[in-house]
Amino acid sequence: MSFLDLRAAIDALRASGDLVEITEPVSARHEVGGVLAAASLLRVGARPRAVLFTDVDGKPVPVIGNVVYGREVLAMAMGVETEELVDRFADRVTAPIDPVMVDDAPLLEVTEQDVDLTKLLPVLTHYADDEGPYITTGMASLRNPATGVVERTICRMQLLGPDRISLGVVNPPMGDTYRQYGRDVEMPVAVVIGLEPLTFVSAALPAPPGAEKMAYAGGLRGEPVELVAAPLTGLPVPARAEFLLEGVLVPGEERADGPLGEVSGYSMVFSSIPTLQVRRVSHRRDPIYHALLPTGPDGDLINGLVVEATILPQLRRVYSFARGVTFVPSTFGMSLVAQVAPADKGRVRGLLYHLLSLERVKKVVVVSEDIDPTDPYQVEWAVVTRAQPDEDLVVIEGLFAHPIDPSYHPGQRGSRVGIDATGFERIGDRTSARVPVEAAARGKALWDRAAGRAGGAR
Ligand SMILES: Cc1cc2nc3c(=O)[nH]c(=O)nc-3n(C[C@H](O)[C@H](O)[C@H](O)COP(=O)(O)O)c2cc1C
Repeated sequence: MSFLDLRAAIDALRASGDLVEITEPVSARHEVGGVLAAASLLRVGARPRAVLFTDVDGKPVPVIGNVVYGREVLAMAMGVETEELVDRFADRVTAPIDPVMVDDAPLLEVTEQDVDLTKLLPVLTHYADDEGPYITTGMASLRNPATGVVERTICRMQLLGPDRISLGVVNPPMGDTYRQYGRDVEMPVAVVIGLEPLTFVSAALPAPPGAEKMAYAGGLRGEPVELVAAPLTGLPVPARAEFLLEGVLVPGEERADGPLGEVSGYSMVFSSIPTLQVRRVSHRRDPIYHALLPTGPDGDLINGLVVEATILPQLRRVYSFARGVTFVPSTFGMSLVAQVAPADKGRVRGLLYHLLSLERVKKVVVVSEDIDPTDPYQVEWAVVTRAQPDEDLVVIEGLFAHPIDPSYHPGQRGSRVGIDATGFERIGDRTSARVPVEAAARGKALWDRAAGRAGGAR
């Protein structure tokens, strides 16, 4: 069964030993971020975990971070094995379940006007060069005046003052909707913070025009999301979220936003970002604040999974020899490894061009089935031993570049690179040096026991 809400996810992580609790006083300015960074050092092989802070700046609101510290959390939320996550995720995205409206919502247990956000929320300042504290887990909802559709997105929001936050909507469709209408009239917006993991992820899924993202959340959860009409704006919002901030986008009040350290690992400024004047705040009785360190595991993982799950089904339909795609950690879905069964070189090249034409993807390496696509050393080995740069590398110029990639050319154009590292025609019957499977397994077991006795694995 899926998690009912964020606090149910926290309970499950606590029960499985994947939650670390910090009870010492810590500051929302840099200190919480410092702990979250230490708890997510994927590169050195440490085991990332979720972290709950019970005393942030002496505020009565606990802070949870690194919730989606690994794919296993989303697998747990979906009730599937981690290995089958991408396939099941891709299946369920194609079977949305409509949300249901409820009258009674934990989210509205406390609802007030004139709330000072700076006093209520333990919003984190993450990095040395950040302009200020940023909410990074807020899902904003607004109604498109022309279509009546409620559009939703996760976006960065700077805490600007007691009743003001910026709304970093750059991506379509919400970014376009704001630019079309919000500069002339007050647009009502509702922001929720503190969603269970699958509802949170669904807000970052690319959706066709007119789609209700909460129906994707329902599909992923296997049961409908409960929505409640927000008291000020009437916008339907998840009834079991932790916080709700409602107000209007102030016409004409735009500003350059940032710098903020982004998922790409760089401090980035967005130009012309609207301001939300918050007029009513609601929350659960003992609310929990959801934090997300942009360079931590969550953003990278969610962006990567969304790309994989979107690509995989279409890929398998068109290229029968395609086995899977894996995104490279820390590249937020921009660098992919595709694994293929033996195929003609021309077909592999076709697959390379296809993958490189996708919105966010910037680099693709294609490997054969004997290479573990999740092991960067094996992939690199395949590249240097199975590819020749003059024949197996393709560069495409002049394509759209993602706004959080700081290396793009003027006009947001960039180039992309693909490498055919399958070596299908190059390696021939040359075999790779490998220990027989049974001996490798026995060797590993012997080693693990001996290393354990010697007092330490890594
Ligand atoms: C952690 C995280 C942070 C994000 N921050 C932003 C942001 O600041 N601005 C933005 O426009 N999109 C941001 N996104 C991406 C949008 O959520 C995503 O592009 C969008 O919802 C995709 O679907 P759509 O464009 O079809 O609505 C973020 C996504 C994640 C997972």
